[in-house]
Amino acid sequence: MLIVAVDGPAGAGKGTLSRALAHHFSFKHIDTGLIYRALAHKALIEKIDFSNRDALIQIAESLVANDLLNPCLRQEAIGNAASKIAIIPMIREQLNQHIRRFCFEVKAPYKGIVLDGRDIGTVVFTDAHIKIFVTASPDIRAQRRSAETTISGQPTTTDMLAQIHERDQRDQSRTIAPLMPAKDAIVIDTSKLSIDEARQHVLVIISSYQQDHRQNRLEAI
Ligand code: DC
Repeated sequence: MLIVAVDGPAGAGKGTLSRALAHHFSFKHIDTGLIYRALAHKALIEKIDFSNRDALIQIAESLVANDLLNPCLRQEAIGNAASKIAIIPMIREQLNQHIRRFCFEVKAPYKGIVLDGRDIGTVVFTDAHIKIFVTASPDIRAQRRSAETTISGQPTTTDMLAQIHERDQRDQSRTIAPLMPAKDAIVIDTSKLSIDEARQHVLVIISSYQQDHRQNRLEAI
């Protein structure tokens, strides 16, 4: 199973890109941010204070795949809440177990898995076959997020740029698994690229990887 790690900050386009790659190569797509969002959402519904780590861990243990299906998980407020919960080391350990379990359950006809998140290449799958780090300027990411929010009819937020900065700051400065490119990641700045250009770029990277490895296997015979 080929593992492709796609990490990056909020609004960089990693979700759209990962879905497109998974579709193109018949890979399974696992959106790891959604797992953090599902936990945050449940905690908010159950009015759990985010300082109550034991209660959060209990919810994390009980998460099931169905919890990821709620469309309201996409709301910016839930993303922000997820980022607050994501600083807790034990929560990350628990959620990483869920992520790895989801991956082990992926079977043929899938030929690979695209995981998108913040720490896939640096922590969750340090030996991923391909690591991509997708980024874009905060202004561009805020514009994209605002447009997505409007199109999907989600509640709009007055200052998306401030929220993007706040989330970047929290995701990048946490002591455990901070957002950063893995040393062996290919960094793609989508500030000046359309999603289709970014997609083409990564399609070439994955296809070349597959071709090289097919060639190496043939030479080994
Ligand atoms: O990718 P996203 O916006 O859905 O993620 C929501 C938050 O979840 C993000 O701000 C930080 C956290 N997260 C994380 O810490 N590690 C991951 N692998 C995925 C998400």
